[in-house]
Amino acid sequence: ASVENGIFEWSAPSNIALVKYWGKKDKQIPANPSISFTLNNCKTVTRLAFAKKANDGDFSFDLLFEGKPKEDFKPKIQKFLERIFDYCPYLKDFHFTIDTQNTFPHSSGIASSASGMAALAMNIMSLEKTLDPSISEEYFYRKASFLARLGSGSACRSVKGKVVVWGKHDEIERSSDLFGVEFPSVHAHFQNYQDTILLVDKGEKQVSSTVGHDLMFGHPFAEQRFLQAHDNLSAMKRILENGDIDGFVKITESEALTLHAMMMTSMPYFILMKPNTLEIINRIWKFRNQTQIPVCFTLDAGANVHVLYPENVKEKVLQFIQDELVGYCQNGQYICDVIGVGAQSI
Ligand code: PMV
Repeated sequence: ASVENGIFEWSAPSNIALVKYWGKKDKQIPANPSISFTLNNCKTVTRLAFAKKANDGDFSFDLLFEGKPKEDFKPKIQKFLERIFDYCPYLKDFHFTIDTQNTFPHSSGIASSASGMAALAMNIMSLEKTLDPSISEEYFYRKASFLARLGSGSACRSVKGKVVVWGKHDEIERSSDLFGVEFPSVHAHFQNYQDTILLVDKGEKQVSSTVGHDLMFGHPFAEQRFLQAHDNLSAMKRILENGDIDGFVKITESEALTLHAMMMTSMPYFILMKPNTLEIINRIWKFRNQTQIPVCFTLDAGANVHVLYPENVKEKVLQFIQDELVGYCQNGQYICDVIGVGAQSI
């Protein structure tokens, strides 16, 4: 088909890992498998306008962030597009205008790379589907996840499904290092699971994830950590299937602290938690002990705290957050989110 120009638009959500990806084998190949909840409200919306080039001049594109030109994001996207040329040679035939925005506040400390790369990958697959209408839906989503991974590893978990596994694991069917697969059997206890993100520190990331993953090369505890992640994913699989919320709390919190322990024990070493992160963790533990409400936390590579809990205790937990935790957030800011389903065409 000869396609001259057009516009696609996709949204893609952020995701929060339960078993963490930290360390690569090689180019965007994870050192261990990971599993995440897909979010619903924290997302990137990206519009891709394409026009066939008159000649075969150099590849170039325009980038708009919230409608305005944004030069400092360009190199990352340029690098991503160059990385995927081999898989999407047709990209070179077009000029693109990429217009992107996030639903969450800019520099909130919420990583936008997962949602951003996933949204862009979806648009590219829409173009591929236009050029080759014969591709199947399964191929469409799998390749979208494959491409998103080349932009940012965890982005491959933001394409499709409520719970997504990325990385080869013996007990997860069809799991792959190359793309995320939907975890099929999520127990009712985990449907509509809530994630309230407490914005403790909105500053620039102290450690980029590229630098962070590299710290696992030559890390004294790396091999043990990668084995542990396999075991924790086995345990998490059973937990999600059986609805074992107590087990969920244990593995999820242990994974978050292990991620930070890896950073504290690398060379160079980092402490990414802030005093308020620890205050919040202690208050969550105290509240859980006193009320038996199964609320727990997880962390990304930063100071913000994700508070995870089942939907049926939502009111009580939100009250607790208001009463006891909001004071530890920067400007009292937090974001209420819930498990979502993945990228959506707009
Ligand atoms: O996708 P990256 O390269 O930004 O790495 C993400 C790493 C963590 O968010 C810390 C863990 C994870 O599995 O998402």
